[in-house]
Amino acid sequence: QQADDYALMDACAKFFASQLRQHPDKQRVIDYLKGRGLSGQIVKDFEIGYAPDAWDTVMKQFGRHKDAQSQLLALKMITENDNGRRYDFFRDRIMFPIRDRRGRVVGFGGRVLDKGEPKYLNSPETRIFHKGRELYGFWQMKQAEQKIDSAVLVEGYMDVVALAQHGVTNAVASLGTAATTEHLQLLFRHTPLVICCFDGDRAGRDAAWRALENALPLLKDGIDMRFLFLPDGEDPDSLVQREGKQGFEEQLKQARPLTDYFFEHLLDTLDITTDAGKSRLVGTAKPLIGQVASDFYRDLLMNRLAQLLGRDPAQLDQLVPAPEKAKV
Ligand code: GTP
Ligand code: MN
Ligand code: MN
Ligand code: MN
Ligand code: MN
Repeated sequence: QQADDYALMDACAKFFASQLRQHPDKQRVIDYLKGRGLSGQIVKDFEIGYAPDAWDTVMKQFGRHKDAQSQLLALKMITENDNGRRYDFFRDRIMFPIRDRRGRVVGFGGRVLDKGEPKYLNSPETRIFHKGRELYGFWQMKQAEQKIDSAVLVEGYMDVVALAQHGVTNAVASLGTAATTEHLQLLFRHTPLVICCFDGDRAGRDAAWRALENALPLLKDGIDMRFLFLPDGEDPDSLVQREGKQGFEEQLKQARPLTDYFFEHLLDTLDITTDAGKSRLVGTAKPLIGQVASDFYRDLLMNRLAQLLGRDPAQLDQLVPAPEKAKV
């Protein structure tokens, strides 16, 4: 069953890629990809494809038999409406195959060509696709890099692809949700440094903070996480297209350590010149710091917290009974 699923998903990816070469509408798609600055080579490397503007392309190609249709349904390549009519899930979209850590196609991201909504459509969860586990570009990164000194965590498919085209082959993206502890665990098993490079907009900032929260239990000695926010309206894709690999890597050097970003973020919404603000800071920061795996990092964060409040770290320990223990 499972082996079959992977074979079918792979066939779908190859089929979408072939539509980019064969479909009567292909020029419109090719023009779009060119307009986004993508080379033919990178489109090939990432097996980017096209799901045609019709209700039954995948149905006709793969769903001739009943068993095959059930499988397409299970893999969410087709869906069924209330009347039992079955039709293609992805229509008129640029298709990005998502590979698992072993290189097997497990799902797709599909982008509209124009202004349509939603801009991106991801395969729903299936028996072989778990968004909290997969990182777009992870497999390609493993192929490209012998030793991964650092990984760049970005938000989007296009970011990963554009970076790779410009020679930054260590970028990965989570799939429309913030990076989970499982995502980060996978990354930290392969590299000691993860640099989060997110859009400067609301979504990017929220995603970064959630990534930080999810990283705290993984923060062991010797591992490092940094944060870079791009100016609003900019993302890794636009940046690398304009400034090239060197320019992008210059920017990466500006990424701030987790320990700095931690307090910057908390102080963003708190006024610690007031007592209420101070107590809110302690109440929020302490449970988070309590989750940190490394004694060193925990100590460092506690010292900074104390410093911010003008207190002794030892005093701070007495000040509040550990809220993380009270909660669980
Ligand atoms: P481009 O406009 O193609 O450059 O995409 P982007 O990656 O820059 O988009 P954006 O910064 O708006 O969003 C970042 C990532 O969030 C995308 O790559 C998607 O994975 C996800 N995302 C964006 N819009 C949607 C949406 O409408 N639905 C879902 N499910 N995910 C989205
Ligand atoms: Mn954005
Ligand atoms: Mn973006
Ligand atoms: Mn965008
Ligand atoms: Mn973009």
